[in-house]
Amino acid sequence: MVSIKLLGIAGSLRKASTNRGLLRAAQANLPDNAGLEIADLTDIPFYNQDITEKPASVNRVLAQIGAADGLVLASTEYNYSLAPALKNILDWASREPNNALLARKPVAILGAGGGMGTSRAQYHLRQVCVFLDMWPLNKPEVFASAFAGGFDADGNLIDEKLTGQVRELMRALVAVVAAHR
Ligand SMILES: Cc1cc2nc3c(=O)[nH]c(=O)nc-3n(C[C@H](O)[C@H](O)[C@H](O)COP(=O)(O)O)c2cc1C
Repeated sequence: MVSIKLLGIAGSLRKASTNRGLLRAAQANLPDNAGLEIADLTDIPFYNQDITEKPASVNRVLAQIGAADGLVLASTEYNYSLAPALKNILDWASREPNNALLARKPVAILGAGGGMGTSRAQYHLRQVCVFLDMWPLNKPEVFASAFAGGFDADGNLIDEKLTGQVRELMRALVAVVAAHR
């Protein structure tokens, strides 16, 4: 029975995204008591303080974040930092009163990218998590190469070792969520 709800968010918007592939791998490698939805960020506008009434697309994802016991953030790396689509939805979510959607939310971080496996972006994301008072897991870290044959042409993860790392990360996240309920 699913009792722990997780939400996966990837920084890449493209159809064959390897980072969304990591989230699908997470979905397929969860403990039995957990379920994971994957957020769609394709229709989320840039945060603008002049927009006083949030668009329906933003409300949709904020509701998913609010309903989630934990987040799985696939931190696409663009120019040595986290991709704007991911930062943008965190910016939208951070404007809720008392930071109620994000504060003390357990977070698993992983990513697929170039030679350093998005490690630079992941450490920037961890800095953002600190300000937002989120609870990113320290270990295990998952740094995947998007270009070394670990993914198929549709962005699906096909590498067994990485799949094992994703499974371990999900196990760790679910354990933290369960412990803090
Ligand atoms: C604008 C841009 C900047 C990028 N900068 C980096 C980078 O700094 N480090 C890196 O490892 N990969 C970088 N890449 C490569 C991406 O990590 C790679 O395209 C990856 O597959 C994107 O994730 P996705 O498959 O989920 O779309 C960059 C790609 C783009 C389009």
